[in-house]
Amino acid sequence: MRYINNKLRIENVGLDKIAKNYGTPSYVYSYSQLKKNIIDFEKNFKSFSPLICFAIKSNTNVNLIKEIKKFGLGADVVSAGELMMALKAGINPKKIVFSGVGKTSKEIAYAIEKKILLINAESHSEINEIERIAKIKKKKVNIGIRLNPNTDAKTLSQISTGKKENKFGVNGKTFVELVKFCKKSNNIVLKCLSVHIGSQILDHKPYEKMLNILSKILNKIKYNFEYIDLGGGMGISYNNSDNKLNFEKYNIAIKKFLKKHQSKIIFEPGRSIIGNTGILLTKVVYIKNSERKNFIVLDSAMNDLIRPALYGAKHKILPFLKKRKNSNKIYEFVGPICETTDKFSTLKKFQELKEKDLIAICDVGAYGMSLSSNYNVRPKAIELLIKGTKIRVIRKRQNLKDLM
Ligand code: LLP
Repeated sequence: MRYINNKLRIENVGLDKIAKNYGTPSYVYSYSQLKKNIIDFEKNFKSFSPLICFAIKSNTNVNLIKEIKKFGLGADVVSAGELMMALKAGINPKKIVFSGVGKTSKEIAYAIEKKILLINAESHSEINEIERIAKIKKKKVNIGIRLNPNTDAKTLSQISTGKKENKFGVNGKTFVELVKFCKKSNNIVLKCLSVHIGSQILDHKPYEKMLNILSKILNKIKYNFEYIDLGGGMGISYNNSDNKLNFEKYNIAIKKFLKKHQSKIIFEPGRSIIGNTGILLTKVVYIKNSERKNFIVLDSAMNDLIRPALYGAKHKILPFLKKRKNSNKIYEFVGPICETTDKFSTLKKFQELKEKDLIAICDVGAYGMSLSSNYNVRPKAIELLIKGTKIRVIRKRQNLKDLM
């Protein structure tokens, strides 16, 4: 995104043109940013060519997943719905891993039927269930076991997954027992050790710590895993003051790990692939002056983007037109939903705004649309993909009739 003649563009399309032709609120994605993210991700780890399984939960738009698939990526799924979506986008089942603590019997049966690469199990009960279903189907099923390495990812508590108090994975002791159990099974082939310690991780040290813990366990059990699935979690910079994850240091730590343990590495990135590719284009409906601040009431709300309300997440906000002076009022950007938490940001010295102005809420490509809802019977926004000067509708705006 850049300003040309003080007007904000995404690739070569002005946001005013998008609003005029497709309305607001709109999710707008940049193809070239997506391409750059995938190429950069691959470059960061090219010495060991990992299998990169895009975390579908971060963005479930089938047309975006189709674009991601064209670069050869696989998928990380957590439900039958996500698995079906990945297959619909044409992703090779041999590049799909299935994570999650509560896979139902139906979901396990579906995954077995589709011959996906791995079901990453998270408990003894789940392994029993996979074995039971595999036996009925007379199949041998490839699985992974998710280890909870009890590592603090130093991220928001709500999106931290690798500490012992979190519901994910099994502890080291159970892991060792489950490896023994799997060795004896006729219907389960244990191929993978998986971990995922959290999301929006900006410090490489928790990853180093996690790798050291894996190394210790592997030395102890002496089992040769074909795959080590390190999950996702690589953070992005949501504002200019965020640190950046040092991919080089993470890469060095993995290379060191691979000298001792020869396995194929799998990653499950979501945010680092899709996060900074999308904006939420929205319009100022009203400006409401109060004593202490001005409420900028937008036509988008927490049903469109819930991250600020749910996690206190901060998304940069940019005006479409950049030519007025800064306001000396505090601006509070809010949606029309009947909850006080329906608020995107409170900013000082934002440029003066007027009713009907367009603004962009940035870096919403990950966990934006995928976490949206119809709360207050509000239709979901349209999704558009920009490639150079071309605008493609990749998901239609819902209309009210769909919701009745
Ligand atoms: N693998 C597993 C098993 C996961 O649970 C997740 C995310 C990922 C991969 C992808 O993580 P990423 O690379 O995107 O960080 N809704 C929250 C994020 C929740 C993440 C859940 N798990 C947010 O808006 O920040």
